[in-house]
Amino acid sequence: MDPNSKFKRWQSFARVIKKRSGTFAWCAGGTAGVALIAISCVGVSHTIFAPPSIPGATFVGTESCEDCHEKINRDFKTADHAKLVAKGPNAPDIGCEGCHGPGSKHVESGGAIATIVNPGKSPEACFTCHVDVKGSFNLPYSHPVMNGKMSCSDCHNPHKGSAHKGGGTQIASMNDTCTSCHVQQKGPFAFEHEATREGCVTCHTPHGSTNQKMLTERNHTLCMKCHFQDQGGSASSLNVGGRNHAGYVARGTCWTAGCHEGVHGSNVSSHLRN
Ligand code: HEC
Ligand code: HEC
Ligand code: HEC
Ligand code: HEC
Ligand code: HEC
Ligand code: HEC
Ligand code: HEC
Repeated sequence: MDPNSKFKRWQSFARVIKKRSGTFAWCAGGTAGVALIAISCVGVSHTIFAPPSIPGATFVGTESCEDCHEKINRDFKTADHAKLVAKGPNAPDIGCEGCHGPGSKHVESGGAIATIVNPGKSPEACFTCHVDVKGSFNLPYSHPVMNGKMSCSDCHNPHKGSAHKGGGTQIASMNDTCTSCHVQQKGPFAFEHEATREGCVTCHTPHGSTNQKMLTERNHTLCMKCHFQDQGGSASSLNVGGRNHAGYVARGTCWTAGCHEGVHGSNVSSHLRN
């Protein structure tokens, strides 16, 4: 990703947080004693958020985890989330505890599970910062993260390297993450649909959507992003791939009208039929 766009995204992220914190009481969390922490990223924007809270516990810093979770600490130096820096009261740094909550009780107890937040069990810890993502998972068609059947870490790396499994920029490996569960869409197919090379996310929103099957568009617009309408025919014709489709679109979508059911690839027809 070009550094400039990264910067812009960070700014918009900061704006969301600022807007929220001005409008809602979520930063105060309603919980007594929750610290407000200023975080900054790559030396720009400052903003505040409330990390997960654990009654009676205080922040002890990332180094305090090292004794018992040595490998995670070592890996974490390369993690996207390790680049966040925190300043403020009760915030030695925002490393591990930004997601796991203040660790003093956990450390004192020698690692009692009930004394630390595990975002693998509930995504709420992630939503303290990624408020907008929560909305997507509440849409009618979404990956089942809210009920705990899936976890953010099925697709994201919290502890190591890019936060996106597979590296984020490499489409092939991002698709591999998807097809590790969705084996049917993996192929190989006798007739590949080149669209999948652009990534599953050209047609599906990975978090959630108002459209069935988490599609980015509900109708033939999905396909027309790449398959432009040809010249030729009369004003009422809809030429795609050299053939008038005007009569077909009334039958349903390109994939439900009995024409191109094999949107991910086909073993029987180059026209993607099943
Ligand atoms: C004194 C040793 C020790 C220290 C220090 C320590 N932990 Fe742990 N931690 C453990 C043990 C032991 C477990 C339980 C492992 C198990 O039962 O599988 C554990 C489990 C966890 C879990 C999993 C909880 C769950 O629900 O399964 C998380 C998350 C965690 N630690 C985070 C941290 C963080 C963050 C720090 C630093 C603030 C930290 N730990 C410091 C010993 C420690
Ligand atoms: C971006 C949020 C985030 C940060 C920052 C983070 N973790 Fe985690 N941690 C998670 C998630 C998510 C899981 C659950 C992983 C899973 O279910 O596969 C987890 C699980 C754990 C566990 C349970 C064992 C395991 O691997 O599943 C331990 C221990 C742990 N983290 C320690 C740490 C330590 C130590 C640090 C800092 C060096 C840290 N974490 C930083 C999100 C985070
Ligand atoms: C302390 C606040 C905080 C917490 C908690 C947190 N994140 Fe982040 N995360 C950030 C910030 C800030 C960025 C960088 C800004 C950005 O690129 O959106 C980021 C970046 C990301 C990215 C990369 C976004 C991109 O643009 O490529 C992913 C994916 C992500 N976080 C997932 C998670 C997951 C999953 C969890 C919970 C396990 C989590 N985050 C917890 C603050 C947080
Ligand atoms: C099914 C896989 C999957 C799951 C589960 C998932 N994500 Fe993502 N997430 C992705 C993919 C893929 C992208 C990149 C989207 C793109 O490039 O268009 C992404 C992008 C992001 C981003 C950056 C862009 C944005 O929308 O803000 C954040 C932050 C993020 N995810 C957080 C989370 C959190 C938090 C969870 C858990 C509540 C989660 N994700 C669960 C696949 C997933
Ligand atoms: C850890 C396993 C896992 C991963 C990884 C995963 N998914 Fe899923 N996916 C699921 C589960 C579970 C469901 C819900 C199935 C259900 O409700 O019957 C689902 C549902 C879907 C659906 C909707 C299916 C329907 O019948 O409505 C689509 C589309 C989808 N996933 C695409 C993706 C894409 C794209 C990616 C990669 C960004 C991805 N998935 C990654 C497990 C996964
Ligand atoms: C060209 C657009 C496009 C691309 C690219 C794409 N899909 Fe789909 N996908 C669709 C459409 C359209 C449907 C709905 C098909 C239907 O209802 O029969 C669908 C349905 C699905 C379903 C639900 C299947 C079912 O039986 O209900 C899953 C899972 C899925 N896609 C996963 C993926 C994965 C994984 C990738 C990447 C390897 C991917 N898709 C790439 C368009 C696409
Ligand atoms: C990301 C771009 C993209 C999207 C979106 C896309 N396609 Fe494709 N499609 C391609 C490319 C590239 C080819 C191969 C070159 C060609 O034939 O135009 C192709 C080929 C095809 C073919 C085979 C054409 C032939 O007979 O040789 C069909 C049929 C097809 N696509 C249908 C669809 C349908 C239906 C959708 C919507 C669900 C869709 N495409 C969405 C890029 C895309």
